[in-house]
Amino acid sequence: MNLKEALKLADRIVFEKTGQHLDDLQEAVLKGTVERETYKHIAKEFDCSESNVRQIGSELWQILSEKLGEKVSKTNFRAAMQRLQNSNVLNFAKDVVVTGSFNTCGEARHPPDQPNPHPQNQETSHQDLSQMPQLGAFFDRTSHIKTLTTSILQQNNRLITITGMSGIGKTTLAVQLVQQIKDEFEYVIWCNLDTSPTLGEFEANLIQFFSQSDKPDSPTTNQKALSLIKYLQKHRCLVVLDDIHNLFSSGELAGKYKPEYEEYRSLFKKIEKISHQSCFLLIGWEQPREVTQIKNQNTQINTLQLKGLDIAAGREILRDYGLADIDNYSALIHRYQGNPLWLKSVATQMQELGGCVTELLLNDIILLPEDLKDVLQQQCDRLSELEKQVLSWLAKASDTINLTQLLENSRIPASDLVNALQSLSRRCLIEQQANFYTI
Ligand SMILES: Nc1ncnc2c1ncn2[C@@H]1O[C@H](COP(=O)(O)OP(=O)(O)O)[C@@H](O)[C@H]1O
Ligand SMILES: [Mg+2]
Repeated sequence: MNLKEALKLADRIVFEKTGQHLDDLQEAVLKGTVERETYKHIAKEFDCSESNVRQIGSELWQILSEKLGEKVSKTNFRAAMQRLQNSNVLNFAKDVVVTGSFNTCGEARHPPDQPNPHPQNQETSHQDLSQMPQLGAFFDRTSHIKTLTTSILQQNNRLITITGMSGIGKTTLAVQLVQQIKDEFEYVIWCNLDTSPTLGEFEANLIQFFSQSDKPDSPTTNQKALSLIKYLQKHRCLVVLDDIHNLFSSGELAGKYKPEYEEYRSLFKKIEKISHQSCFLLIGWEQPREVTQIKNQNTQINTLQLKGLDIAAGREILRDYGLADIDNYSALIHRYQGNPLWLKSVATQMQELGGCVTELLLNDIILLPEDLKDVLQQQCDRLSELEKQVLSWLAKASDTINLTQLLENSRIPASDLVNALQSLSRRCLIEQQANFYTI
């Protein structure tokens, strides 16, 4: 759900309760909330006192909480509006969002009961988001959402990948994106590859989903692969595949299909090469090797390697644990590279153990809570022997190290070394600056 939609819904609820539309300050508070601004920042922008902004916020949360029957606050406002949109609790919610028939706050407004002049045929949209996780608090990432939206809706890219380390926020970003663009598609489905379906099972599921609007007597072909592409040509579909690393082998360089999933290669190739009007969004720790190789030559593919959150967003996460105001919060966020999962893990430990642990962090110590170790272990277990060797050389180096030094020290054949570096970099485990590498 985007800002405009969230504001429209909130405006309707406030109007219903008070008979008045949102005023400028209320709108600024909600806008700032969606954009993860602090009350202090909103007050500064609006040139009023922070306490005034807090008061307005608290009144709004009360009205919204009453209407939704759940506690709505600054941290879950957008998610609550999203849930409202997804549910039928308020029968106006869908009209507001899907048809855009109500003006945004500030423009001329319709009273709540005015009929929608442009009803959209609800039957044209099919969504199976049962496997999509619920969106929690969402900070930062505005530019990523914008780039992905342009890539999907304007450039009509057919295959898009989001890769990055565990916990960096890939799934969360994709959920937010899907919420914002799903109404542009006739079919939207979110599939998690945790269960590792064979290609046959996967295609059968998709075809079953896409065929729900087929008339009973319409001819369908028995050749599954062919008919899947036909559906992608006939309808505008968005297919999200999360955790695609399940298709790839452990102990190999990144992106090598497990033998039993080799067939997915030809599916992804078809999706890229054959003309259609749909989009596949692949999310995971690794992406297919061939996707990376052709990234720059083919405009139908777009790839995004996700890095950590910025300091302001990291601080918002720490805020939930009562740690937003510790002296060294920016060093802490920097040390954990803005990875929201890592931050949450270490913040939980700090919250549980209190001030003494916070002091430790002043001394550049890296805490590794057990749950965080498990997450990192899982990713390290996937590495090939060659990658482990290279990582260990990089770890031993007291400073950044370049390719020539690595070659001399490690005695790994040049071609193998370069392949390992490329794979580690695709996994986001190493970074390259000029000719130098660091973990
Ligand atoms: N932009 C964000 N703002 C706030 N929290 C986030 C953000 N992105 C991720 N998180 C939180 O970090 C954790 C890991 O996110 P997730 O999307 O599951 O990571 P990934 O899919 O990359 O493993 C989750 O608890 C999620 O709520
Ligand atoms: Mg994920």
